[in-house]
Amino acid sequence: MDDFYRENILDHYRNPRNAGTLDDATHSHQENNPLCGDVVRIDLHVNENNVIDEVAFKGRGCAISQASASMLTEMIKGKTVDEAKAVGKEQILEALGIQIGPTRLKCALLSLKVLKAGVYGLSEAEWDSDDDW
Ligand code: FES
Repeated sequence: MDDFYRENILDHYRNPRNAGTLDDATHSHQENNPLCGDVVRIDLHVNENNVIDEVAFKGRGCAISQASASMLTEMIKGKTVDEAKAVGKEQILEALGIQIGPTRLKCALLSLKVLKAGVYGLSEAEWDSDDDW
């Protein structure tokens, strides 16, 4: 089963979904992984109904960080902002589907950090307390 998830991660890494940037983004933010300097930027377009109708990401980093960013964009596209905010660490780790050690956790959750810290404008105190960035 691990092989399936590894293949899926590599597929997202090699063929990232929603790759690029948005000219008409309503929200845009970039963060890096302090351990390695790798970056992820996410652009969103939120329409008048509070739905994320467009999303794009751009980044540089390991397969885990870039694949999880690609997966996250698929999870939030078409969702309302409130629904997207409910996507958390568990969903990302479930989508990756492989055992992630403490160091790789920062890779896996980098894109979620971009959303939570930047795009949603949440303060550090509002993040899940066990999301150890
Ligand atoms: Fe840099 Fe994974 S090694 S984000």
